Amino acid sequence: MTNLLETERLIIRSWIPESDAEQAFAIYSDPEVTHFLGKSSRVTSIESQRQRLIEGIERMHQRNNGTGSWAIFEKESTTIVGTILLKQLPDKDGLPTQDYEVGWHLRRASWGKGYATEAGRVMLNYGFSVLNLPVIYAVVKPENHASIRVTERLGMKPIGRTNKYYGIELLLFQLDAPEE
Ligand SMILES: CC(C)(COP(=O)(O)OP(=O)(O)OC[C@H]1O[C@@H](n2cnc3c(N)ncnc32)[C@H](O)[C@@H]1OP(=O)(O)O)[C@@H](O)C(=O)NCCC(=O)NCCS
Repeated sequence: MTNLLETERLIIRSWIPESDAEQAFAIYSDPEVTHFLGKSSRVTSIESQRQRLIEGIERMHQRNNGTGSWAIFEKESTTIVGTILLKQLPDKDGLPTQDYEVGWHLRRASWGKGYATEAGRVMLNYGFSVLNLPVIYAVVKPENHASIRVTERLGMKPIGRTNKYYGIELLLFQLDAPEE
């Protein structure tokens, strides 16, 4: 298991398909969690969830550029509370663009604790200081107010609506790398 990052309350680490699939399934089988996510985020069984985690890790190895999707592990309870991701935004055909996004998904029981903001902040730092990205975006459905608030807490700048990614209209938020 590789820990990528650590904060006061959280550890950001690689997914372990064998042992994490059940907890990931509990997150992604909850319609409240997937409400604003694409249809493809929904899963129907622990086994298909495990397969999805395996495929995600394979894609990370293929890209080999430090981007991916990680588990957010809560130190206090030693449970997985969600996902944090930093990856290339896909165009309407699902092909990677040169733009990078940060994203967050938390299990329902862990909303309202500031975990998305805490994990998002350390992920943005990683994108700027380790991956040397000049700018990181977030894309959010216009009705997803909880997620828009996370971008605000992280100091991301609202840019407006865009159709460039995922083949749908989304709100775009941007953060530039800090000046050296
Ligand atoms: C989007 C999502 C991650 C936001 O979760 P969240 O809990 O509202 O966001 P945070 O983890 O940053 O928590 C912030 C909240 O915790 C509260 N909070 C409590 N303790 C806190 C602390 N120590 N630090 C910061 N905030 C704290 C804040 O006041 C804030 O509450 P508010 O929204 O009532 O003002 C969550 O709604 C989710 O997983 N949704 C489903 C998946 C999804 O749509 N993802 C986004 C796709 S773009």
